[in-house]
Amino acid sequence: MESLNTNTIKRSKWASDESEEDIKPQEPKKHKKKEKITKPNSDSTSAVRLATISAAPPVSAPAPAPEPEPVQTQTQTQTNRIPRPTSPPPNPLLSACRSVDCYERLNHIEEGSYGIVFRARDRETGDIVALKKLKLEKEKNGFPVTSLREINTLMIAKHPNIVNVREIVMGNHLNQVFIVMDFIEHDLKTLMTDMRAPFFQSEVKTLMIQLLSAVSLMHENWIIHRDLKTSNLLLNNRGEIKVADFGLARKYGSPMGNMTQLVVTLWYRAPELLLGAKEYTTAIDMWSIGCIFAELINNEPLLPGRSEIDQIDKIFKLLGTPSEEVWPGFTSLPHAQNVAFVKQPYSNLRSRFVCMTEAGIDLMSRMLTYDPARRITAEQALKHPFFSETPYPKDPALFPTWPSKGSGEKRKVHSPSAPQGAHAGMDDDEDPGLEGTLFAGQSESTGFRLKLA
Ligand SMILES: Nc1ncnc2c1ncn2[C@@H]1O[C@H](COP(=O)(O)OP(=O)(O)O)[C@@H](O)[C@H]1O
Ligand SMILES: [Mg+2]
Repeated sequence: MESLNTNTIKRSKWASDESEEDIKPQEPKKHKKKEKITKPNSDSTSAVRLATISAAPPVSAPAPAPEPEPVQTQTQTQTNRIPRPTSPPPNPLLSACRSVDCYERLNHIEEGSYGIVFRARDRETGDIVALKKLKLEKEKNGFPVTSLREINTLMIAKHPNIVNVREIVMGNHLNQVFIVMDFIEHDLKTLMTDMRAPFFQSEVKTLMIQLLSAVSLMHENWIIHRDLKTSNLLLNNRGEIKVADFGLARKYGSPMGNMTQLVVTLWYRAPELLLGAKEYTTAIDMWSIGCIFAELINNEPLLPGRSEIDQIDKIFKLLGTPSEEVWPGFTSLPHAQNVAFVKQPYSNLRSRFVCMTEAGIDLMSRMLTYDPARRITAEQALKHPFFSETPYPKDPALFPTWPSKGSGEKRKVHSPSAPQGAHAGMDDDEDPGLEGTLFAGQSESTGFRLKLA
């Protein structure tokens, strides 16, 4: 058995990111019950640790805290650079961190824009966890503000439907920082690509309620996620959503300061961002949630634009071209003057979702409302009649379970480059006779086939 002492380990398996180390997950070794002396209660200790650098208000704090100017934060982080173990004074966040070697690396899950995610086992407790290795290699200016925001936000936003961060651990190099989270079996994007049939409406309702209640908590605390999409929503095998990836999240307040418009993955990006609005609010997350809602129902992305112009075009074709009447101030937005938009006088949303009830279409339209000031909030959405009509939301405990790709329970995917808009991905070994249930060959306007919940 490997010792926890890093000196005795020849070369940490965490030293490289390559998938060579995608070690075959072994059956969990019988966990030896040791005297519990060293393991800190990760939640509380790490939250306390982070609180010392973030001075973040607790989740219940009602007042907005304007974010410091990025320049200031950067300077601050430079002075707080990660110290070598011998050089005092220690950074209050990182000096208390345990080593990544406390975790046994199992397999690589995914590499995204801000980090590489691995599945690992806590050597002491045997718990299976996910480690997100932050991409700091190219950082010249100290700890990047995006990573600080991600850690900070995850630590303060505690909610049953937000992924739980256990602790932050360090590798052998100063640029190796890992966020240790509970391991969650699926992300909705991968799962929906593999599912043989879409979610039942009763399941969509449960997922939407969970998502809305997590986002409602964030927005109450002036946190905008800024990258809500199906790949950032994790789902465990107990029917519980966990919002993840706070790499773009930030606090907002008054005055707003400079906020980049280059946020949110294109397909989920609100029209005010696409049209160059200088200021935006939590309403941008609600637009993304509207797109996610539609995707959960139809099992295909609602607005898969190929470019920003194409994205705007797709939005206008679906929802009708906006006017000053429905969206006051629309014509004065920076990009609204430069582009000749398609003239679409009415919304086609209803014909795209033929099996949805009036209440369902109403909720979706309120999320996909052009004017951000009139767009429904997460709190209002939770009270919408759609959630209290039949079919009722399904008890999460009654959700089906699926094999977890992140756990290495992979089925061979025939075509890894299947188009994003494709209906469910067909695996080699799947019964082609099921193709019909995946809406294969369905045109944009033919709606969807609903199974009765
Ligand atoms: N806690 C977790 N448990 C299991 N898988 C996870 C977890 N966190 C992230 N993942 C997987 O890794 C992917 C990338 O993680 P994410 O935090 O979104 O990183 P990025 O910022 O690079 O997009 C997710 O889409 C998901 O598939
Ligand atoms: Mg992501």
